[in-house]
Amino acid sequence: MTNLIIGASSEIAQSITRQLLSSGEVVHGISQHPQPAQVPHDQNLHWWICHYGESHIEQLVESLQETITEPISRVVICNGQLHGDGLVVEKRLQDLQESSFHQIINSNALVPLLWLRALLPWLSKQECKIAVFSARVGSIEDNKLGGWYSYRASKAALNMLLKTAAIEYSRRAKKIKLMAFHPGTTDTPLSKPFQANVAESKLFEPEFVAKRLLEIMESLHIDGELSYLDWAGEPIRW
Ligand SMILES: NC(=O)c1ccc[n+]([C@@H]2O[C@H](COP(=O)([O-])OP(=O)(O)OC[C@H]3O[C@@H](n4cnc5c(N)ncnc54)[C@H](OP(=O)(O)O)[C@@H]3O)[C@@H](O)[C@H]2O)c1
Repeated sequence: MTNLIIGASSEIAQSITRQLLSSGEVVHGISQHPQPAQVPHDQNLHWWICHYGESHIEQLVESLQETITEPISRVVICNGQLHGDGLVVEKRLQDLQESSFHQIINSNALVPLLWLRALLPWLSKQECKIAVFSARVGSIEDNKLGGWYSYRASKAALNMLLKTAAIEYSRRAKKIKLMAFHPGTTDTPLSKPFQANVAESKLFEPEFVAKRLLEIMESLHIDGELSYLDWAGEPIRW
């Protein structure tokens, strides 16, 4: 089977890639970074650089389409930012910063949607499952703690964009299944500064989450709906 892994340098994406390669599958990894040393060189792995501007995504999808002759069975979109250079993780309203908000909305919500736009014409006749990394903090009903205004809003926005895209895909790409996925708190650079109060048993290894994601994708039926599921395969309230 042939897979597209977008945001492929993410720690979880690297684990997904390793697991797929070890099963003999073909992976096209797409990232703004060169192939990480932890991802093995393998004849079934093709690494593409993308800087996620809309024209760059469109051009890259054209190149992928010209290069890949076999159908795409899975797409996994891993992009997401919570903290980093110039980004503020708000504890209260006074922490909110316009530029940080725009950046987080862009990488968590807009970039995945640009990929769904670019992929639709190519995948419209194919049977394919698409997983996009959301987060439980994107659930409005589940928000009991507050804080993290930009990240929460970006994942809630992502969920709405995916729901709307699932409706359009069900009309124009009838054999595609979409899932918004919450990996659980996973030991990656994204969660590193926030792990202090997480019980050891609740902090997952990327390899575990990658395995769960692939098992859950396998079990999904093509029903024209967006599923919002966690690592255990349990639905999350919107
Ligand atoms: N770790 C957790 O506890 C946790 C919990 C809930 C949800 N998630 C979600 O899981 C996904 C994977 O994250 P991770 O934990 O594996 O973190 P990570 O290792 O920090 O990965 C970061 C991801 O974001 C992408 N990215 C970074 N800067 C970007 C930018 N400016 N524009 C677009 N994309 C950018 C990276 O793509 P490149 O390969 O191009 O750099 C990579 O895919 C994220 O969507 C995150 O929100 C994680």
